[in-house]
Order: sequence, then structure tokens, then C-alpha cells
Amino acid sequence: MKFVRVFASLCVVAIATLTSASPATAPPPHNGCKNPTIRREWRTLSNSQKNNYLNAVKCLMRNDGRLNGTVTRYEDFLTTHQRLTSQIHFNGVFLPWHRLFVHTMEKILIEECGYRGAMPYWDMKRDAADFAASPVLNGPFSFGGNGAPNPDEVAPYYPSAGGPIMRGPFANEIIHIGVGTDTGPARRRIKRNIAQFFADMWLRPEREAQVLAETDFDSFSLILEGRVQLDFVLNSDQWGMHAGGHRAIGGDMVDAWTSPSDPLFYMHHSNLDRIWATWQKANPERQFLVGGPIKPRSPLLGPWPYPPPPGNVTLGYVMTLNGLGPDTAVGRVVDTMGKAPAGSPSGILCYQYDSLL
Ligand SMILES: *[C@@H]1O[C@H](CO)[C@@H](O)[C@H](O)[C@H]1NC(C)=O
Ligand SMILES: *[C@@H]1O[C@H](CO)[C@@H](O)[C@H](O)[C@H]1NC(C)=O
Repeated sequence: MKFVRVFASLCVVAIATLTSASPATAPPPHNGCKNPTIRREWRTLSNSQKNNYLNAVKCLMRNDGRLNGTVTRYEDFLTTHQRLTSQIHFNGVFLPWHRLFVHTMEKILIEECGYRGAMPYWDMKRDAADFAASPVLNGPFSFGGNGAPNPDEVAPYYPSAGGPIMRGPFANEIIHIGVGTDTGPARRRIKRNIAQFFADMWLRPEREAQVLAETDFDSFSLILEGRVQLDFVLNSDQWGMHAGGHRAIGGDMVDAWTSPSDPLFYMHHSNLDRIWATWQKANPERQFLVGGPIKPRSPLLGPWPYPPPPGNVTLGYVMTLNGLGPDTAVGRVVDTMGKAPAGSPSGILCYQYDSLL
């Protein structure tokens, strides 16, 4: 099947020009974010901070689930992503929805499992040259390494692994939900299949620079997420850092529906969120800029449960979390420091990235 390229308008609509704000112009509504938490790169955390994070995730894996079909609280997040997959990818809501989702995970880790920091991120470009050797995957305070050898999972660019994680804090954790679109009961371990090919292709520093050079939100989002294609192996030059990171880790991370089986999902998406925040901060006109179609560009991930509304994502577009947390308008998460466009309800976020300070 042929991949459809979508070229977004080159015309950037400035919704708010903060630099030209005069004393007469009221400042944008603000949630009172005075002491933002700082999201830091995993390897810059102390061992005790790493331990605190890993233990909080394991606590979610022990606590009872509250949503339909889940056994653990961790799986509430997994199945929320799984059930919404067709509505939150290949469209304009990809970045804001995942920002809200990662924020919700951070909040629940703090409120329910004693986590004391901000959501860390994994700057994958630092490990592009030798992905499997990343400190995120090795050592006593890490997420553990590759999956076990599994001949059934050998595929082009996936030479060796594909079985359950063998080491580290998540090696023996059980997930009780099926894979793909199967929301029913299951009993499985978390799998990985680390593939250097995708790190070489998509996680090098040049790729981040290339994405950040985009000037309009829709093009930026599309290139960061990864363009839509079905014959992905042959057309792997069309992948973005998002898809590339998922592919480089492999195993459960390659499953578009249940990739949040692997806790690395959150550190990867926190990094993509950092790249979005970087892009936003590079030009004041981008602060409240959103866009892209509500209807996904590809039917690859299945139909919506109802016909998608026409038009593009706007600041007023309400994102659902299917009961995991409150439904939230895009305009309330568009700034990590809680600013909201004039006339919109105040922002709900209050964090910054260490690299942007
Ligand atoms: C719960 O999930 C099951 C299986 O996924 C489904 O058949 C059932 O209708 C769901 N119940 C509710 C209340 O959503
Ligand atoms: C959606 O955005 C695209 C690209 O910016 C634009 O060409 C199109 O007219 C917009 N559609 C609507 C309904 O606003």
C-alpha cells in the first residue's frame, strides 16, 4: 500500500505573539505555576532517585487496577492507551494526548506510590551509537536489558532477542492484559528486542535537529511521530524518532496498542515531549500552536468507535482518558508551565525540562 504524504500549509498562524505584548495586553491566564518540577535525563538522577522511580513503577504493578479488565494500577494506563490507540496516533492530537498521559502517570506515581521526583526522560540520541550499552538498560539502577533469545521473533533488523526481559526490576513482572487490540485477560512477561539498526537510522543527533527545524506544528508533529506507512521495513527511511525509539527497543514497545507494557514507554514519550517543549520555546509564536487533522491520516490502527469529527485539532478540542483521569482540553496542556491562551481555562501543568533551563 502506498504511503500518503501530507504536506501541511507553510503558513504559520500566530495565535499569540508574546513578544509584542504591551502593558495594556492582559497576560495569558496562568495556573499559578511558580515552582515547576524539573524533568531530568535518567542518567543525571542519583542512584536513590532512580531507585525511587523504579520502585514507584513496581508499586503501580502491585496495586489493584480500577478500570475494566485490569488487575494492576499499572495496567489501567496500559489499557487506556490500548483502547484509545486508533484515536491518538497519526493525527493532530498525538503530542498533546501523550503529554497528558505521561503527566497523569507522573501524578499517580507521586500520589499513590511515593515517588518524589518529576517524570524522567531518556534522551535516546546520547545512546544512538551503541543502543544496547545505554546506562538506561544496564547496571543495578536501570530498566534492565534485552529480552531473552527467541527464534520466533527473529525478523529483518531484529537479529537475536524478542523474549521476556531477563534482568533488572521488571524481569519477572506479569502483565494481565492481551497484546494488540485484545483487552481480555492474559498472563505474559514484558518483552524486548533491541535493534541497533533503528537507533542508527532514527535516533542520531541529526534527526533531532531535523525535526526541530520544522516550522509548522503539523509538519513538526508528523515528522517527530513517524510518517504513516504499512511496508515499514522497506520504507524505514520514513520513520520518525517516535517510531524509531519504539522499534529500537523492540518487543512490546513495537505493539502500537500495548507498548505501555514496557515502563520505558514513559521515558521515551517524556523525551518526545521535551522535544516538543524545545520546539515551542524556540519561537514565542509557537507557544499555543496546535493543529493537524482530528481524523487519523491512516486507518492502520483501526477505526474509531464513532465517526471522527471533521476538521483540525484546536485548543478547545477535548481529549479523553477513558476514565483514567479527567477529560482535558488541548489548551490546558499546551504549555508545560501552565500558561493558557486568553479565553481558555487555565493550564494544568507545572514542569520544565532541565535542558531548556
Ligand atoms: C469490560 O471489558 C469487556 C472485555 O474487554 C467487555 O466485554 C465489557 O463490555 C466491558 N465492560 C464495560 C462496563 O465496559
Ligand atoms: C486543517 O489544517 C490544514 C493544514 O494547516 C488546512 O489546510 C485545512 O484547511 C484545515 N482544515 C480546517 C477544516 O480548518
